[in-house]
Amino acid sequence: MTIGTALTGKATRALLLGSGELGKELTISLQRYGVEVIAVDRYQNAPAHQVAHRSYVIDMTDADAVKKLIALENPQYIIPEIEAIATQALADIEAEGLCTVVPNARAIQLTMNREGIRTLVAEHLKLPTSAYAFAESFEALQAAVEKGIGYPCFIKPTMSSSGKGQSMVKSADQLKAAWDYAKSSGRVDTGKVIIEAKIDFDFEITLLTVRALNQQGEIQTYFCAPIGHVQENGDYRESWQPQVMSDASLKLSQEIAFKVTNEMGGLGLFGVELFIKGNDVWFSEVSPRPHDTGMVTMVTQRQSEFDLHARAILGLPVNIELRNEGASAVILGGVNAKGVVYNGLAEALAIPDTDVRLFGKPEAFVNRRMGVALATADNTGDARHKAIKAAQSVVISSR
Ligand SMILES: Nc1ncnc2c1ncn2[C@@H]1O[C@H](COP(=O)(O)OP(=O)(O)OP(=O)(O)O)[C@@H](O)[C@H]1O
Ligand SMILES: [Mg+2]
Repeated sequence: MTIGTALTGKATRALLLGSGELGKELTISLQRYGVEVIAVDRYQNAPAHQVAHRSYVIDMTDADAVKKLIALENPQYIIPEIEAIATQALADIEAEGLCTVVPNARAIQLTMNREGIRTLVAEHLKLPTSAYAFAESFEALQAAVEKGIGYPCFIKPTMSSSGKGQSMVKSADQLKAAWDYAKSSGRVDTGKVIIEAKIDFDFEITLLTVRALNQQGEIQTYFCAPIGHVQENGDYRESWQPQVMSDASLKLSQEIAFKVTNEMGGLGLFGVELFIKGNDVWFSEVSPRPHDTGMVTMVTQRQSEFDLHARAILGLPVNIELRNEGASAVILGGVNAKGVVYNGLAEALAIPDTDVRLFGKPEAFVNRRMGVALATADNTGDARHKAIKAAQSVVISSR
């Protein structure tokens, strides 16, 4: 493969749709290989805007705006970092054959809507998932829960992420509130919710799965060591790598991840979310891009999930080797304020083998992820303690 010189007529250009903390790290990884990166988001000074060669603020759900920008920048690669994108525009652009949508437009379309990916995985690939149903009215929701799925169950908008609009329902009297919440908080109101039976798992993992070219120029699937994580209100708080699991459940996890990513196709890194109980494994969902719980790989792997995604996209060889054990802990805003200040960074970094990333988001919200603490240790237990302590040392205030 050939890389041109950034900021010249021969540049290899990548357009990033979504410029959050994951996009920021991906931008840096791509730039290290000489790629010119154009970062796009719906608000100014998003994390990746701060490191990209150029940046734009557009409504990414507006197909015309997306197409206009792509025509202007003429990138070789379009890399979606978020789900809220006018995906039909990407499908049209892919069909013109002028650039690569990463990993491809179909994978982006399937994964932006829980109905698409769930139906494909459960009914076409016949892989294990929680029992589920879709409902377009409160009456249909009630019927689905009472005649089959039962309690406890999860109600989620079909288009949402980071736990938005999602609730766990334990009894009939909580159903209406869950329906109203899902209807009002989805990214786009598709008119539909998904109801999922609660899986009583021992732990959940993200299996980072990479589709990259090998020495023979063929697409090969590589699996990173499993990442364990803790979620609160549908959003990740802590992750660690490796998650200890049985050989049988790991093998099954890899088989499921292979089938799902093989069906998605294209080149790149995927975050396959799985629930594990004993030797049983259930597919939950998949991101066709780096995963928030995978930020831990910045300190655990020889090549982080961002390096792996960049390399895979560019057709370069990858190495998924785990260098050492480690953990990540999220730093939440804790306040609603613009232009916050961060104290305690020195205290956090005084803890041995820790590091901190502050994302530089222009506005903090109580539950917004503003940074992440990373730590390595001989074992994930110690690494988790250190990462949490480092995260707690960082104090965010409005002045
Ligand atoms: N059917 C289920 N059974 C048990 N736990 C569940 C189920 N569905 C969701 N959860 C819990 O809620 C978390 C978030 O769910 P899910 O991944 O579907 O939401 P999301 O909005 O897509 O979140 P994200 O974008 O952060 O991945 C899961 O990681 C898991 O901890
Ligand atoms: Mg998830």
